[in-house]
Amino acid sequence: MHELVREDRDVLGDIADWMRDRLSDRAADPAPGIRPPVPAVTAEGVGTAAAWASVRDAILPTAFPTDHPRYLAFVGGAPTPAAVLVDAALSAAAVYGGSELEAGAVVAAERAAVRWLSDLVGYPEGAHGTFVSGGSIANLSALVAARHGRRGPSGRPPAVVVVGASAHASVRSAAAIMGCGVVVAGSADAPLTAADLEPALEALDPADVVAVVASAGATNTGAVDALDEIAATCGRLGLWLHVDAAYGGAAMLAPARRRLFVGIELADSVTIDPHKWLFTPFDCAAVIYRDPAVARAAHRQSAHYLDATATEHADNPADYAVHLTRRARGLPLWASLVANGTDAYVDAVERCLETATYAAKRVEASDELELVTEPQLSVVLLRRRGWRAEDYARWSQRAWRSGTALVTPTSFAGETVLRLCFVNPVTSPEDVDLVLGALTSPAD
Ligand SMILES: Cc1ncc(COP(=O)(O)O)c(C=O)c1O
Repeated sequence: MHELVREDRDVLGDIADWMRDRLSDRAADPAPGIRPPVPAVTAEGVGTAAAWASVRDAILPTAFPTDHPRYLAFVGGAPTPAAVLVDAALSAAAVYGGSELEAGAVVAAERAAVRWLSDLVGYPEGAHGTFVSGGSIANLSALVAARHGRRGPSGRPPAVVVVGASAHASVRSAAAIMGCGVVVAGSADAPLTAADLEPALEALDPADVVAVVASAGATNTGAVDALDEIAATCGRLGLWLHVDAAYGGAAMLAPARRRLFVGIELADSVTIDPHKWLFTPFDCAAVIYRDPAVARAAHRQSAHYLDATATEHADNPADYAVHLTRRARGLPLWASLVANGTDAYVDAVERCLETATYAAKRVEASDELELVTEPQLSVVLLRRRGWRAEDYARWSQRAWRSGTALVTPTSFAGETVLRLCFVNPVTSPEDVDLVLGALTSPAD
């Protein structure tokens, strides 16, 4: 089973061809409505060639790839070829990415990628963190670090997480996992300000507050909270500020949007997900701490069998989040940064922002469509005049089933609207025209 036989070598060549074709045409028609039977797991096995044939021909085609230029739902992801290729090789390398002992220069490369993200945030030299599976685990890891070693008014650990109303659902999940209550400030439909936050904080003992969580790019709207004001309030009250920039953080690369993020550099911790808008394959999310020592104290696992990894100068990625064994998922990001250079990243993010602006202008120019809010980043909310929730749902299903586009409705200020999220630089104005055209065509 572990010997690489002739059949496996042939499959390797086929996979390489398949990857080349897939990366050359990311818009190839998906068939997401089809649910073929999945071959059974058997005692004898069918061989690598047959297993791969099922994956290639029956299983993968049913997915709507997140890098399809008209995948505009949720938050997609469009990895670069350099990142994909290194990610694929990483599996073959069988690297345990938790410690320097086992991963040598792999850890150094991931550290360089964390450094690049820290510079983007504007963090000082000592800031550090690690890559985890997603923004959800990054947020949880940051909140666990924020609470570590503290005592609230009752003598027990602090028990309240204060969140802006537009905070991602994962923040509430993290609070629930930690057994904490959540106090919500502001409105889900507008960026959080200090004026929203302060009344919520007045009713609380700062010693009982685990952290304040602000969004730098709310998932639903792309709105960035007033980070400078919020950081000032947290600084005055001695509160840990966590900024969730999982989706929006990439926009700091665009000089014209940088001003929206002023204050993020004062946060105690930041989540930023390369697998969303920084062109890295799933899964790759970063949690970065201004003072990594706190995170290390919170997260480092100790056991006799781990002592060998915990030498005096060891700096182990396992120590900065809720994990131990981990994929070295920062390596594909690092390789892509080295391969493409950071200017290409700036250009790619700018292109997504331009496409979002184009979409917003097209909506404004249409008689049938209306812009719901002015986009701050690359999320565009729109309504089609006269449509109810079921109209959006029907249209979205039809576009998905036909493989035309993945665009899903959301809710804003109590109204069902359509949401477009642009994180793929390959998405073109023509793709936008096609989607908006389908929305307004007589058939709909
Ligand atoms: C702002 C924000 N935070 C956190 C998350 C959760 O990230 P993940 O799905 O990678 O766990 C998301 C996901 O879209 C997000 O947009």
